[in-house]
Amino acid sequence: MTPDSAVRPPLDRSRLADGNPELMPDLTVEVVDALESTNVEVARRAQDGASDGLVVVADHQTAGRGRLDRTWETPPGTAVTFSILLRPEVPARLWPWLPLLTGYAVDKAITAAGLDAGVKWPNDVLVGEKKVAGILVERVDTPQGPAAIVGVGINVGLTADELPVDTATSLEIELDRTVDRTDVLVEVLNAIREAVDAWEMGGEPSSVRLHESYAAACVTVGRDVRVDLPDGSVLEGRAVEIDASGQLVVAVGGTDGERRAVAAGDVVHVRTA
Ligand code: BTN
Repeated sequence: MTPDSAVRPPLDRSRLADGNPELMPDLTVEVVDALESTNVEVARRAQDGASDGLVVVADHQTAGRGRLDRTWETPPGTAVTFSILLRPEVPARLWPWLPLLTGYAVDKAITAAGLDAGVKWPNDVLVGEKKVAGILVERVDTPQGPAAIVGVGINVGLTADELPVDTATSLEIELDRTVDRTDVLVEVLNAIREAVDAWEMGGEPSSVRLHESYAAACVTVGRDVRVDLPDGSVLEGRAVEIDASGQLVVAVGGTDGERRAVAAGDVVHVRTA
C-alpha cells in the first residue's frame, strides 16, 4: 500500500534557511513545492547571474531529467531532488571529476546513514547491486563564464511498488525504517560542498586524495564490464582502474592485454557482468 501524504511530510524549510548552523556556509537553499526540473531551473538562474552555491530543491519534480535524455520521475514526497549551481575555479581539464566527486559525496552520506553503499562508475550510487541515487551534471555557458549544474536525485521513501525498475531501490526499503528527507538533504549537501571545496582548493595532494577516495568507493573496478559506446560499438573486459583523469580503464584482451580508457561523457551504458 502506498503511504498517504500524512506520513510523507514536506521538507522542513526552517532547517534549510540561510544561517542554519546545520548547513555549511556557501549554500543558499531555495525549496519549491513543484517544478519541472531543478536542473533546468538552476541553468536558467545561472544564465541570470546567480552565484556559486545556489541550491534549488523541489519537493516534487514533474519532468525530472536523467542522463542521455531519459526521464527521472518519483512520486510526490518520496525523493530528494535538487540541483546546485557551481562556478568552479579549476582548469577545464579537471571538470570531468565533478560528476565523480558528487557521486562519491552522495555515497559517503548514504554510507554514514548505515548502508553498504558504493559508486558504480561514473556516478550512480548503489546499495548492494541496486541504484538508489542518480546524478546529472550539465555544463552551461553564462555571461559570468562556464557553470556546472549538479543535479542529484535520491530515492528515499519509495515503496517496492513505486520503484521505476527492479534494479532500483530506496533508502527506506534498504534501512527498513522511515527516513527523514530533510536529514538526507542536509547530509548530502554538506558532503558535496565539502568535497567540492577540497577539490577547488586544488593542488596535487587534494587531487590524489580525491582519486584514491573515489577509487576506494567505486564498485566497478575489478569487475567484468560491458561498455556501450555512442557509435554502437561495445567494449568488453575487466575494469582495472580509474585513471588520474577519472576515466575507467578496461583491460580488453585479458589483464595483460590492451587497455582502453573511457571517459564518463563518452559512454552510453556500463554494465557489470
Ligand atoms: C540519472 O541517473 O540518469 C541521473 C538522474 C538525475 C536526476 C536529478 S533529480 C534533480 C536533478 N534535476 C533533474 O531534472 N535531474 C536531476
